[in-house]
Amino acid sequence: MDQPMSALAAMAQRRSIRSFQDRPISHELLEEVLAHTVLAPSAKNAQPWRMVVLEGERAAELARMMQTRADEMAEAGADSGSLAWTAQVVAQAPVTVVFYNAAPPPEVPARFHESYHWVMVQSTGAAIQNMCLAAEALGLGSLWICDILYVHDQVGPWLGHAEDDLVAAVSLGYAAESPGPRPRRPWQEVTEWHKHPAASRE
Ligand SMILES: Cc1cc2nc3c(=O)[nH]c(=O)nc-3n(C[C@H](O)[C@H](O)[C@H](O)COP(=O)(O)O)c2cc1C
Repeated sequence: MDQPMSALAAMAQRRSIRSFQDRPISHELLEEVLAHTVLAPSAKNAQPWRMVVLEGERAAELARMMQTRADEMAEAGADSGSLAWTAQVVAQAPVTVVFYNAAPPPEVPARFHESYHWVMVQSTGAAIQNMCLAAEALGLGSLWICDILYVHDQVGPWLGHAEDDLVAAVSLGYAAESPGPRPRRPWQEVTEWHKHPAASRE
């Protein structure tokens, strides 16, 4: 790639990818994605994100955990939404990165833990979006995955992060599909513009 893709182009072109080529990602490329992920802003620059990169058998184990949970829920007559579908994406992707929020440091009093959580989860969301956009700019497809929360209780101890907050996962790989843009409400429909009576946009 001669000219790096602009941020605006990455935002416009990124799609959720649910079908990946059987092609590994080089560690060099993955490290570049990770390096851009941690450039995200965070409250008080606390950088609460923690990432666990799963490849090969470790990623396959996560996919099995998710599929087993989907099967158990189906047997119990419970709705597991897109869980089984997402488990198939994880099974196919060469890499899945699990995102945690680090537990609050000891100096944060317990009464602030809930607001700390809300603030830090936004920070980690910014990092996840950076990862998806960096992947796009570097020629990779990505899928932001919250279906991993269905196996929250198992994944924590399995990855040695039982004390931290599981936020989401991102599957990465070379896309084997090129979906068109998914619908969006126009910004005008979701935005209120409170103008000062005297203000003019001219
Ligand atoms: C917080 C969050 C959680 C998501 N979780 C899942 C998921 O578990 N499985 C899945 O297939 N897609 C998941 N997605 C992808 C959305 O379905 C997708 O972003 C949306 O349909 C718009 O499509 P686009 O990303 O191609 O624009 C998630 C996206 C976000 C932002």
